[in-house]
Amino acid sequence: MAMAELSAPKTTSTFLNSSSRLRLSSKLHLSNHFRHLLLPPLHTAPNSKISCSVSQNQAPVAVQENGLVKTKKECYGVFCLTYDLKAEEQTKSWKKLINIAVSGAAGMISNHLLFKLASGAVFGPDQPIALKLLGSERSIQALEGVAMELEDSLFPLLREVDIGTDPYEIFQDVEWAILIGAKPRGPGMERADLLDINGQIFAEQGKALNKVASPDVKVLVVGNPCNTNALICLKNAPNIPAKNFHALTRLDENRAKCQLALKAGVFYDKVSNMTIWGNHSTTQVPDFLNAKINGVPVKEVITDHKWLEEGFTESVQKRGGLLIQKWGRSSAASTAVSIVDAIKSLVTPTPEGDWFSTGVYTDGNPYGIEEGLVFSMPCRSKGDGDYELVKDVEIDDYLRNRIAKSEAELLAEKRCVAHLTGEGIAYCDLGPVDTMLPGEV
Ligand code: LMR
Repeated sequence: MAMAELSAPKTTSTFLNSSSRLRLSSKLHLSNHFRHLLLPPLHTAPNSKISCSVSQNQAPVAVQENGLVKTKKECYGVFCLTYDLKAEEQTKSWKKLINIAVSGAAGMISNHLLFKLASGAVFGPDQPIALKLLGSERSIQALEGVAMELEDSLFPLLREVDIGTDPYEIFQDVEWAILIGAKPRGPGMERADLLDINGQIFAEQGKALNKVASPDVKVLVVGNPCNTNALICLKNAPNIPAKNFHALTRLDENRAKCQLALKAGVFYDKVSNMTIWGNHSTTQVPDFLNAKINGVPVKEVITDHKWLEEGFTESVQKRGGLLIQKWGRSSAASTAVSIVDAIKSLVTPTPEGDWFSTGVYTDGNPYGIEEGLVFSMPCRSKGDGDYELVKDVEIDDYLRNRIAKSEAELLAEKRCVAHLTGEGIAYCDLGPVDTMLPGEV
């Protein structure tokens, strides 16, 4: 039935051609879409029957707003039903709905993340959300599976789920974009190839965000190599403040805290002021000089300084690789948890005297890091989604040398993607061991 309707009128071609989302959800919703275009408007009953998309093929797509029946192009299953957030607000004092895009939404990391987002664990128990899930053509069935599981979870705060493959549709009006989807480095693939393939994805997504997202959208890039992907993304989104783009280094911060806690024989909540400097790669610099345990400088608590410089540092840099050896795949659950931590650090005030690490644009940084990079540094937030750099962190010779190495690596990565950042012709002189992801051996 849906297939027959696919060849329906030309007037529908804009969204038929612009996204495969409708193809993917055609069995469930397409017939209704076309019904609205071809027939007089449906009138939604005041008490619409809620039924789940998987168990019926007539999922409602008509929503009633101020007495008008409108069609929703992108909704999935039960999320197509009318809801009245104003009424909810009166009883629950909920905040205004926010739109959150997640790319790579059918992947392992997302599978952990989406249910945390929908549960309220990230944005709070009074924050209703709409999830906009971006997948690839290949993952489209899986994406439907994800949407079905979200339906079946009956999360009160989850008001909408949209799925699709076109960033220009999925990123429409989003206030947060969590960009996870990226290709892993395949056998025989040169680093430059990986930078180029993934860079093209992030250039495209940057352009889409620039065009259709909320102008103050916050973007967290997770897909590797995340610092350079974030740089490409922001360079392709000139209307969005560069400050709004982050590369995820919170996983590294969490790993570093865990290692220090283990060595000191304390629980990890006692470790604070943990900075990861630089690239999310094996050149990253976990800063034990400024970190504290129970408010005391780490070097006073852990007197084995050789371990700090070598064992500790390397264990954090290569933690992802060790995990791959054990699991046979990259970290997923802990990455999702660190995404939650990274966002919560921006939407809740940073505790007095503490800070968190995130990869941010270096323009105007007080540490002499070359401008025009995305580099992990210590930050604080008032909880409004924005942040400021912590300005007075001490840097000794050890740190300076290590930071310079990570900076040089990011500069080399940047040269490789000049064609994607609008900075001329790419020139890639990366060595075979340069820019190793934490998971690569
Ligand atoms: C991680 O840090 O666990 C990942 O970035 C590893 C990887 O290379 O995918």
